[in-house]
Amino acid sequence: MERTIGMGVIGAGTWGTLHARTYATTPGVRLVAIADLDPARAAAANAAAGGIAHCYTDYHALLADPAVDAVSIVLPDALHHDAALAAARAGKHMLIEKPLATSEAQARAIIAAAESAGVVLMVDFHNRWSPPFHALKLAYDAGELGALQMISYRLNDTIFVPTTMLRWSAQSSVAWFLASHCLDTVLWLCDARTGADTPTRVYSVARSRLLPSQGVATPDFYQTIIEFASGLVVHLENAWILPEAAPSVFELKCEVLGATGAYYIDGSLHGAQKIVTRTTYPDALVAPTVFGRPAGFASESIRHFASALRAGERPLVDGRDGLAVTRLVLAMEQSAAQGAPVVLGDLWRD
Ligand SMILES: NC(=O)c1ccc[n+]([C@@H]2O[C@H](COP(=O)([O-])OP(=O)(O)OC[C@H]3O[C@@H](n4cnc5c(N)ncnc54)[C@H](O)[C@@H]3O)[C@@H](O)[C@H]2O)c1
Repeated sequence: MERTIGMGVIGAGTWGTLHARTYATTPGVRLVAIADLDPARAAAANAAAGGIAHCYTDYHALLADPAVDAVSIVLPDALHHDAALAAARAGKHMLIEKPLATSEAQARAIIAAAESAGVVLMVDFHNRWSPPFHALKLAYDAGELGALQMISYRLNDTIFVPTTMLRWSAQSSVAWFLASHCLDTVLWLCDARTGADTPTRVYSVARSRLLPSQGVATPDFYQTIIEFASGLVVHLENAWILPEAAPSVFELKCEVLGATGAYYIDGSLHGAQKIVTRTTYPDALVAPTVFGRPAGFASESIRHFASALRAGERPLVDGRDGLAVTRLVLAMEQSAAQGAPVVLGDLWRD
């Protein structure tokens, strides 16, 4: 019989609260502990998850708790590395929020620490669990679209996210926060990990005007072209400067053109519901609550980590996928800084 897994959540902000609520409502999983430097945030996340967890301000104390088998690391992007190394030392399995880390050395150190501790490491690239992207993958794998020709993928946030929602946006960027999702989805779609296709060159152009003028020292947007060995060309648009009046806090559009078919995804204004007194298009897909339980695909990826642990199986996404995306975001930054394309090595094997 599968055992019950004791879960800890490190970082109890917007997304850590979703991890806590998801574990608290997942059969076979016990939410044991939550850690946040800010005790009010830990308490609020605990209350949202039913008040069943023990709250810590120091995550090292959470990691010393023998009832915790595994942790979600849901700290600001630049802080994943230290917590992941501490979790590996404590022998805890870990689900790390995207991006795995914000430098290649840190990403490699996390993978090495997990391997030597013999713990499971998953990176939460949850768009693989998004129903429209899942259906796109099935259609592509079934040959419905033919050989991929062009992908145009836009994932943007309103300026509220870097200026108000995140206190740490200047220590990250829209490339780490949003492009990392797009890069993983594209690499997964075309099976880049198996060598079925390979990104060969990245050219990014970034601008830093609006956000720095508002005191947030991070780029406004990246426009990126990625060329693949097969001839596929991917265009990514990742901006953190949509107007606050935009009908939803994020905008996601993905258009995939194959030799024999096309696939169009609109993940933001999906039209399932429309309200005219507050956020016009509320979330019906990512993390909606249905009968008190988080029901969207963002919780499906978190539940997948727990069910893989319970079954003793490898999760579908691991540290190597996180390293590949980290290397691609670094190439975007390098390209934007030097104003020229960057030639890529093998993302998984170098
Ligand atoms: N998968 C997704 O779509 C998605 C969505 C949002 C955020 N994220 C990721 O989740 C992570 C957290 O993002 P967020 O939006 O929840 O940020 P947040 O700012 O809302 O929460 C971060 C929390 O970490 C706490 N913290 C900071 N340093 C700490 C420390 N040393 N010890 C303990 N707690 C500490 C802060 O007090 C805060 O409560 C980021 O990596 C982000 O990229 C992923």
